[in-house]
Amino acid sequence: GTFNKRINRDTARSMALAEQAKRVADEFNFGPDAVNKAVNEFIREMDEGLGKEGTELSQIPTYVTAVPNGTEKGLYMAVDLGGTNFRVCSIQLHGNTTFSLTQSKVAIPKELMVAKTSKELFSFLAKQIENFLKTHHEDHYYGHIRRRDTGGATKEQEIFNLGFTFSFPVNQIGINKGLLMRWTKGFDIADAVGKDVCALLQTEIDALGLPVRVAALVNDTVGTLMARSYTSPGKTGTLLGAIFGTGTNGAYVEKLDKVTKLTQSKDSGDYDKSTGEMIVNTEWGSFDNSLRTLPNTPYDIELDEKSVNPGIQMFEKRVSGMFLGEILRLAIVGLLKDPTFPLFRDENSAQNDIHSTTQIHDSSPIWKQWGIDTSFLSICAGDNSPGYRMVRQTLDKDYGITAVSAEDAEAVRAIAAAIGRRAARLAAVAIAGIVINTGRLDAPGTATTENKSGIDPPRGDADLAEDDVIDVGVDGSLVEFYPSFEDHIREALREIEGIGEKGEKRIRIGIAKDGSGVGAALIALVAGRVSVDTE
Ligand code: GLC
Repeated sequence: GTFNKRINRDTARSMALAEQAKRVADEFNFGPDAVNKAVNEFIREMDEGLGKEGTELSQIPTYVTAVPNGTEKGLYMAVDLGGTNFRVCSIQLHGNTTFSLTQSKVAIPKELMVAKTSKELFSFLAKQIENFLKTHHEDHYYGHIRRRDTGGATKEQEIFNLGFTFSFPVNQIGINKGLLMRWTKGFDIADAVGKDVCALLQTEIDALGLPVRVAALVNDTVGTLMARSYTSPGKTGTLLGAIFGTGTNGAYVEKLDKVTKLTQSKDSGDYDKSTGEMIVNTEWGSFDNSLRTLPNTPYDIELDEKSVNPGIQMFEKRVSGMFLGEILRLAIVGLLKDPTFPLFRDENSAQNDIHSTTQIHDSSPIWKQWGIDTSFLSICAGDNSPGYRMVRQTLDKDYGITAVSAEDAEAVRAIAAAIGRRAARLAAVAIAGIVINTGRLDAPGTATTENKSGIDPPRGDADLAEDDVIDVGVDGSLVEFYPSFEDHIREALREIEGIGEKGEKRIRIGIAKDGSGVGAALIALVAGRVSVDTE
């Protein structure tokens, strides 16, 4: 009697749970029609942003119009600020398309991300550069100090040209000059907005007396595009560099005459017009801030309301690593608020064959904003073990939810998968918008045959150098670690009018690992070569 009752109750519970999990998962559906509408809106906003300021897609001209050809030699530095870590590296270019890279990485203290003054953050950055020089380039560093202290001048070869990868929206007014438009990704330091971030860094570098000149200001997407274009084996060059990491954004090769807000402005800085092209930083994190076409669940709404920048970066808040874990957390917590909802209420769950009651510890991070890391979504998507052992173990070890049943794990997994899939389908919207709007699909190989690209053909495997390939360089934790992120992107690409099965096949997506560091060095090199005024 009791036994049968329990079995019946458990079966009823499992079914209710699966059904309700599916209901929540379905809230994250973003079907073919919605995808196509969003692509049209993306294209509209691209064009709008090229013509004027203050638009949703910022479409920032980067002043980068060419890349090196691989024969350059020299030692360059690059620093990278833009997410959880600050990276300092030096890059030795060997002059034969290869390079070696030395780097160090520190986590950015949380309190500096929301410091009272920008000086606190930038002096911290300069300090890291100093540490790096002392550790890895003693000769330069101490040579410079010695000469300086004896009243001599620093040798030119002791001065590093530095590429500053600063991955926030910056209104660029020259290759090494740009005013911060707004912070994103949880950074919030009011007095930096509107300031030239290169000058902020240079001031702190000079205060420490370091032999370093900030030569180029680079968005991480631009660095990714450069690095990928430099190493990718296609003939037509890379079209797009995209980041799907803590944040998301893309930079692409645009025809200069379409960038009318630059070409028709009297007060734009100097730039090389000879290539007829310029890299444009879309800042697509703010695509469709007014939610004309973006999906909007109750969880998206709550996440946005409780963020430091409500109403902006609306695309990023649905796509990138900083936010996906939080969307999942809000969905789960929402379910748990309903006392009749069966999730995590198993009195008879089996873990390690021991029957016990599921418990959520009071200290569980799921009760705190940002408590679930996006890496958990990757674990969910990657766990195909019987009974979802990895998911249950992670819930136990990292999230203080013990003795989770396989059914519960499956429910969590279903919701997590829906959030990840929606993110990838949104990513496809941005990629498709750029591929379609640049006309690369209609005119295969024009960049090669007319050779106007200004992007030197990357060297490499000749077999792969098809005119038809549209090369996209990507980087970031989601593309790197979320299983099948690219598969989901491709599935959506095939559903998009103007891309379809044929177009999807022509799009090659490749990781440009650490592209932002190498890319920044390459741009610093170009900047040095055209001897841009660094004042
Ligand atoms: C955010 C920043 C953008 C950056 C992206 C990826 O969207 O605004 O500049 O490229 O994150 O790091």
